Amino acid sequence: MKDLMSKIISLAKRRGFIFQSSEIYGGIRGFYDFGPLGVELKNNIKKAWWENIVWQRKEIVGLDSSIIMNPKVWKASGHIDTFADPLAECKKCHKRFRADHLVEDFKDSAKLDEHGEFTKEELEDIAKAIEKIKCPECGGELMPPRQFNLMFKTFIGPVEEKGATAYLRPETAQGIFVNYKNIVDTQRSKVPFGIAQIGKAFRNEITPRNFIFRTREFEQMELEYFVKPENDQKFFKTWVKERMNWYVKDLGLDPKKLRIRPHEKDELSHYSKSCVDIEYQFPFGWGELEGIANRTDFDLKQHQKFSGADLRYFDEKTKKYYLPYVIEPSCGVDRILLALLCDAYQEVEGGRTKTTKSVKEVEILLKLNKKIAPIKVTILPLVKNKPKLVKKAKEIYDLLKSHFNCQYDEVGSIGRRYRRSDEVGVVFAVTCDFETLEQNDVTVRDRDTMEQERIKVENLVELLKQKLEK
Ligand code: GLY
Repeated sequence: MKDLMSKIISLAKRRGFIFQSSEIYGGIRGFYDFGPLGVELKNNIKKAWWENIVWQRKEIVGLDSSIIMNPKVWKASGHIDTFADPLAECKKCHKRFRADHLVEDFKDSAKLDEHGEFTKEELEDIAKAIEKIKCPECGGELMPPRQFNLMFKTFIGPVEEKGATAYLRPETAQGIFVNYKNIVDTQRSKVPFGIAQIGKAFRNEITPRNFIFRTREFEQMELEYFVKPENDQKFFKTWVKERMNWYVKDLGLDPKKLRIRPHEKDELSHYSKSCVDIEYQFPFGWGELEGIANRTDFDLKQHQKFSGADLRYFDEKTKKYYLPYVIEPSCGVDRILLALLCDAYQEVEGGRTKTTKSVKEVEILLKLNKKIAPIKVTILPLVKNKPKLVKKAKEIYDLLKSHFNCQYDEVGSIGRRYRRSDEVGVVFAVTCDFETLEQNDVTVRDRDTMEQERIKVENLVELLKQKLEK
């Protein structure tokens, strides 16, 4: 489905998953807001990760560090000097592009014929490849690429001077490294152990693109896992397996749309010895959901050097001090959310329910994993003009709302209401009808099978819980 992305963008806006940031002012490129359904979906993804990483592993603890840190952190981490992307600027219209993305785009594009194919040498040297490319906006000549640092700068206190410069964190990882000693001292952590963090990170991307895939403000879920240096590759492999399992088993993503891609030597970040990406096949191509890197002792060594603090770990068995190596599984919440939407989106030709055929021929079904779906149950009175029925439906809503994220909907025909809830992936529809008033039971409709079951109200909470766990 080539236009799947535009369908998802439109659904996301129409139903309140994702809005452009500051839309009434024309938006702002690379920033998005998550609406009522988006925030639920995001929270469910974060909860699934946190439970899997922190709650289910006794050697891993959580952290919530500040976004702005002492600027020396970024000198030590290498981000001030090396966290940059190659930027190519047009000499004529002065539009700016990410040079490596331009080369990628032109490599796959028919436009390349006008310029001749890239040689192997050109593909290895972006500056050479760029000479063959014209500005995609105006056809003008491009300047040789230069390195552009991706960190957002800000100022601390009431002065805008060099000495007051600070940075919005480009990764949550450094908050973990600078707290490493606090954690070891207070939690009595023994290697191997991990520190996990979920939080916002910011990168001044040259060309944000593909909706929420590449944005300037995003949310990371990062784990720094500290191991004995000689065990680095063993744990690296273990984490790749663990993380892939999470996408398939916990999130239910289609395994055929997931792959593991090792980084080429020239792709490795300045801090890593080896890295693989877990990628998802988005409608616009394969894209990274998660990077798993062996950061070695690079970060702890740098922070030890720049701060003067002794960050060595004392091994009580061998009575030796050493700096642990770090395996880092790092993923993006927004990207996972987009992958889930792409994976779940289905169109049903001819409609699924009889009543909707006359309304629209194609119905949208968002078959989100039950645990991740933003709304679990919608409560529907069969009709809205019978006060007793409406009262009963509201009572059932009150009964369910402290157990599940629920919604109450009384507007339109029952078929339309089923359709509206299927479109946003609501897992169950609970309908109250006239029999409910007599027998105290309701109809529970399953989103995926459309099967309907009659359930006693007193058994409803337990039964829905069981069904959601399946
Ligand atoms: N900490 C790894 C990354 O932000 O990409």
